[in-house]
Amino acid sequence: MVVERIREMIREGFRDSDNRTSLTGAAITTAAALTMLFFFVIEVVSPHHVNPYFGILLFVFLPMLFVLGLMMIPLGIWMRRRKMRKDGTMPTGIAPKLAFGSPVLKHILTFVAVATLINVFLVGTAAYKSVEFMDSTEFCGKTCHTPMTPEFTAFKNSPHSRVGCAQCHVGPGAEGFVKAKLSGTRQLFGVAFNSFERPIKSPVESLRPARETCEQCHWPTKFHDDKLFVRTAFAEDEANTPATNVVLLKIGGHGIKGRTGIHGRHLDDASRISYITTDEKRMEIPEVTYKDDQGNMVKYISTAVKMTPELMKKARTRAMDCVDCHNRPTHAFELPDRGLDKAMTDGRISPELPYIKQQAMLLIKAEYPDQATASAKILAGIAGFYKDKYPAIYAEKKALIESSAAGVASVYLRNVFPDMKIVWGTHLNHIGHEESTGCFRCHDGEHKAADGRVITNDCDACHTVLAQGENNPKVLKDLGWK
Ligand code: HEC
Ligand code: HEC
Ligand code: HEC
Ligand code: HEC
Ligand code: HEC
Repeated sequence: MVVERIREMIREGFRDSDNRTSLTGAAITTAAALTMLFFFVIEVVSPHHVNPYFGILLFVFLPMLFVLGLMMIPLGIWMRRRKMRKDGTMPTGIAPKLAFGSPVLKHILTFVAVATLINVFLVGTAAYKSVEFMDSTEFCGKTCHTPMTPEFTAFKNSPHSRVGCAQCHVGPGAEGFVKAKLSGTRQLFGVAFNSFERPIKSPVESLRPARETCEQCHWPTKFHDDKLFVRTAFAEDEANTPATNVVLLKIGGHGIKGRTGIHGRHLDDASRISYITTDEKRMEIPEVTYKDDQGNMVKYISTAVKMTPELMKKARTRAMDCVDCHNRPTHAFELPDRGLDKAMTDGRISPELPYIKQQAMLLIKAEYPDQATASAKILAGIAGFYKDKYPAIYAEKKALIESSAAGVASVYLRNVFPDMKIVWGTHLNHIGHEESTGCFRCHDGEHKAADGRVITNDCDACHTVLAQGENNPKVLKDLGWK
């Protein structure tokens, strides 16, 4: 009975599929499949990574076309039948019989079976590939050009430049995947209709708890020892006088030989600290709860912030994780003087040139409508200054001046994106206490517990400052640095 009915339906389907919509659908599907196959071969054979636009075509657009075509076939049949029913032209009786044993039908069925197998394989691969592709840095960083350019630019020269965006932003597991795809779809519309936020908001509320992502690669027991850092700042005088800080940071973890350092104090197997914040940027922290080594919960209340009922309403609690200190683990934007100091230390800008720091500061802090104008004005500005004020140096060191001018422009181009409204200081780094209040959001000496304990602001708690603002610090010579 059932078999009879199905056979009947198939026959009717064949009969009624002879309509424009179904035939177009079949054509679209076949064409999409053949095109996918063609590009797929190129992708496999080609030694290079797919170009992002090519990738969109291959992994997003073509499969959509393929499925669209497939859906048009039954749609056409349905529309035709509806029309026939309305017009009263529906053929009565049984649809023309396709003799089951006939060689023609056998051929058709074999063809359909083989084609379906191939299609399933193609769609399956395409779906898999599209997922893989949409998690790639190429897709995140380059495809949706404008919105992600700032992060992508900062990321390219960072310690994580070989780590994919998705490894921090999506993380492992099915839940992260589904969430990311949902929010990704929304973002795609944002790009299509040019309706995304400028700048893109930070902190990112929907970020997975950092420990689930970061700890895929950095596990807590790995934190040990101290970390030495050396940073040279240049003054805005004629000689660009350098002043070097040498700091030994106590970053050790918990339960490892030696001291409990910065990591171990805030994080253990689980978070030890939660805090209340009253603003979106998480800068105001009126209350901190800490589980001490004895397992007691200690509440530190800020004496600097008066909690009003109005603030109370905005208050949110957050478990402290990596991102509360490392909010810029990879796409870190620099402040103007720090960006220049780094370029001068690296030699991209020559500290030999008189007043280069001062001139560079003036030029990169000015406002420009877009990056191209900025770059042109900065290059012209530096050259003009030396031509004007130091003609002898200009004549003698033209090449050095030009390469340094390019260095100055590059500091601007890496950090300021007028079209995304990212200017100096839009995204501040919480590591330390120089760029933003950073650690001092809690370690300000004003967060006090009932028993008199205070979250420390002792300069030696976090680091030993081995040299502060020295020209050629002796400690570096002792360590064998030049
Ligand atoms: C090492 C981990 C890591 C990687 C890799 C990474 N991000 Fe992020 N990203 C973060 C964290 C953490 C934040 C949230 C900062 C906060 O909440 O304060 C963030 C925030 C952002 C934001 C919000 C705006 C901002 O700058 O804070 C954007 C946009 C962004 N990331 C894009 C990208 C893109 C594009 C890539 C790849 C090119 C990428 N990220 C790679 C960790 C990462
Ligand atoms: C997929 C692996 C991976 C993930 C996920 C990851 N990192 Fe990293 N991280 C690395 C690698 C690799 C380095 C580079 C080590 C080097 O350059 O010596 C690094 C370096 C770092 C550094 C040292 C930076 C420096 O200046 O030397 C910090 C800090 C850091 N990661 C924090 C984080 C944080 C916070 C997260 C989560 C938001 C995170 N990482 C997620 C792999 C990862
Ligand atoms: C209380 C603030 C704080 C928290 C929370 C924190 N870190 Fe750090 N971390 C630091 C500081 C400060 C440094 C040293 C400065 C730097 O490297 O930029 C550091 C350094 C690092 C480094 C580089 C180590 C090296 O030897 O160069 C890695 C990797 C790192 N952190 C990963 C993490 C991960 C992963 C988490 C979360 C599980 C985390 N941190 C949580 C403050 C913190
Ligand atoms: C959300 C609040 C908060 C932030 C932000 C924070 N800390 Fe802490 N920190 C604490 C609390 C709470 C303690 C434990 C206080 C105690 O010992 O009773 C602590 C303890 C420490 C200790 C141990 C001090 C000691 O005397 O044993 C160090 C070191 C430290 N923090 C470094 C840092 C550094 C470096 C940063 C910034 C990168 C930072 N903290 C950011 C809340 C914070
Ligand atoms: C809660 C921890 C903490 C306390 C307290 C603290 N610092 Fe720091 N300090 C840091 C961290 C973390 C960095 C490194 C930031 C980075 O990696 O860029 C730093 C960096 C520095 C630097 C180098 C800045 C640079 O970028 O060249 C100096 C100088 C310094 N601290 C001085 C002090 C002095 C002086 C005090 C006492 C008033 C103090 N710090 C208190 C955590 C702390």
